[in-house]
Amino acid sequence: MDRIIIFDTTLRDGEQAAGAGLSTREKLEIAKQLEKLGVDVIEAGFPISSPGDFEAVQLIAKEIQGSTVCALAHANAEAIDRAWEAIKEAKSPRIHVFLSASDIHLLYQLKKSREEILEISRDMVARAKRYAEDVEFSPMDASRTEPAYIYQILEAVIGAGATTVNIPDTVGYAIPQEFGDLIEGIFKNVPNINKAVVSIHCHNDLGLAVANSLEAIRRGARQVECTINGIGERAGNASLEEIVMALKTRSDFFNLTTNVDTTQIYKTSRLVSELTGFIVQPNKAIIGINAFRHQSGIHQDGVIKKAITYEIMDPRSVGIPASSLVLGKLSGRHAFKERLAELGYILDEEALSRAFQAFKELSGKKREVTDRDIESLIAEELRTVSEVYHLDHVEVSCGDHSIPTATVRLIAPDGQTLADAALGTGPVDAVYKAINRIVRIPNELTEFTVKSVTEGIDAIGEVLIRIESGGVTYTGRGASTDIMVASAKAYINALNRLLAARKARHE
Ligand code: KIV
Ligand code: ZN
Repeated sequence: MDRIIIFDTTLRDGEQAAGAGLSTREKLEIAKQLEKLGVDVIEAGFPISSPGDFEAVQLIAKEIQGSTVCALAHANAEAIDRAWEAIKEAKSPRIHVFLSASDIHLLYQLKKSREEILEISRDMVARAKRYAEDVEFSPMDASRTEPAYIYQILEAVIGAGATTVNIPDTVGYAIPQEFGDLIEGIFKNVPNINKAVVSIHCHNDLGLAVANSLEAIRRGARQVECTINGIGERAGNASLEEIVMALKTRSDFFNLTTNVDTTQIYKTSRLVSELTGFIVQPNKAIIGINAFRHQSGIHQDGVIKKAITYEIMDPRSVGIPASSLVLGKLSGRHAFKERLAELGYILDEEALSRAFQAFKELSGKKREVTDRDIESLIAEELRTVSEVYHLDHVEVSCGDHSIPTATVRLIAPDGQTLADAALGTGPVDAVYKAINRIVRIPNELTEFTVKSVTEGIDAIGEVLIRIESGGVTYTGRGASTDIMVASAKAYINALNRLLAARKARHE
C-alpha cells in the first residue's frame, strides 16, 4: 500500500486563527504530542513573523526527533535566512517557501507580472536549497490560478531543487472534482514531477476542505496538509483526524496508509482545544462529544446487539477510553492513578498528589466522577504549573435586590497574600474588578463562555475567556463546580499567560 505523508500545520496555519495565542511552552507541548501522534512533518511556525514565533520554532526544532520540523518563509531572502536560522538544529529540517500565483493576487496585491513571480520562485527555492536538502514550495491561491501557469511554476521550482510542491486552495474555493482535475493535470503536464512529492493544502470556507483533500489524494497527491480539530485561518484547514480516519476506515476504497497512531487522536484534539481555547463542536466528526453517542432507540438497540450496526469506527481506535468506568468518593489513589494512565496521563508523584487531592474534593461534591471530569482536573493541574498569580480565595454576594460584591485573595509570585474587594454590575464583573484592583494590568474582556463538562446539576463548569491587551489576545480557562470560582480561575489564567508572554518578550 502507498503511504500518505501527514503534514501538520496546527502550529502555523492553525495558530494563525484569530485568538489562538499560544505561548512557546504550549507550542512545544503540542509539538511533542504531534510527534507522539506520528505526523511526518510538523510545520512549527513562521519565524520571520515575530521574535516569539522564531523562538518557538527554534525550540521545537531542537526538541523534536521523530518528525521533520518545517519553517514557513515568504519568497524573499530575509525570510528564508530567518527560517533556516530557526530550524538548522533540527534532526530533519524543511524550509517551506510560498508566493502568490493567481492573477488576482498578482494584480491587486503584489503588482508583479507572471514572469517576475516565476523568477522569484525559482531563485528563492534555489536560495533555500543552499541551506536545506528538504525544500517545499507553495504557489499561493493555486486553485484560482490558470493551470498552465501552475505547471510552469512547478517545473521551474522542481528544477531549482524543490522536493515537495504544495497546491494550496488558499481561500477554500475549490470543488472536489475540479481540484482533483488540477492535481491530475499536474501529473500529466509537469515534465519533472516525478522528482517531487505533490502535496495539497485545503481551506474550509465552503466546508469542502476534507473532501477536496481526499479527492486530490485519490488523483495522486501523496502529502496532505491539515490541522488538529481543523483549526486555521477563517473557517479553518482540512482536519487531520477526519482525513486520517477516512483513509483508515475506507482503506478498502483508498488502499493507502499513514504513519499516524490513531489512538493518540482524541488526546491530541483535547490538548489543542484546551491550549488554543477553541471548543470542539459536539457533532464534530471523529472527536466531537456526540461522535459516538447514539440517541435514537433503534440505533441504541442495534449497537447493544452488535456495534457494527451503527458504528463504522471503534471509538477506542481514536483513543476514546474503552470503559466508562466511573470513580466516586470511595475510590482510592491507586484506582485514580490507574484511570489516569488509561486516559494517557502519567503524572509525577507531586502532581499526582495534587490531582488526587482535587479529585477527592470533587468526589465530595459530585456523586460520580467521569473521565471528562478527570480530564478537566488534569487540565487545571497543568494550568497551575505555570502560574504567576494563584487564586487563593473568592467570595461573592449577589441576588436580585443586592449589589454584586466580590472579595478576592491572590498569592503573588513572591509568596505575598494580596486581597481586595469590589462592586460590579454582576457577580463576574465584581470578581474581575476585584482581581483588577490587585493585579493592575489594563486589558479588555472580549469573550466569555461557560459550559458544563458533563451532564447533571452537579457538573463541573468550564469557563473560557479571551482578554486583549496591547493588541494581543490571551485565552484563559478555569474549571470548578462553582461557576464564580471557575470564572475567577479563567481570568487569573489569562492574566498569567499575558504576564508570561511579556516576560518572554523582555527576555
Ligand atoms: O493557505 C495557504 O495558501 C497557505 C500557504 C502559506 C501554504 O497557508
Ligand atoms: Zn493555509
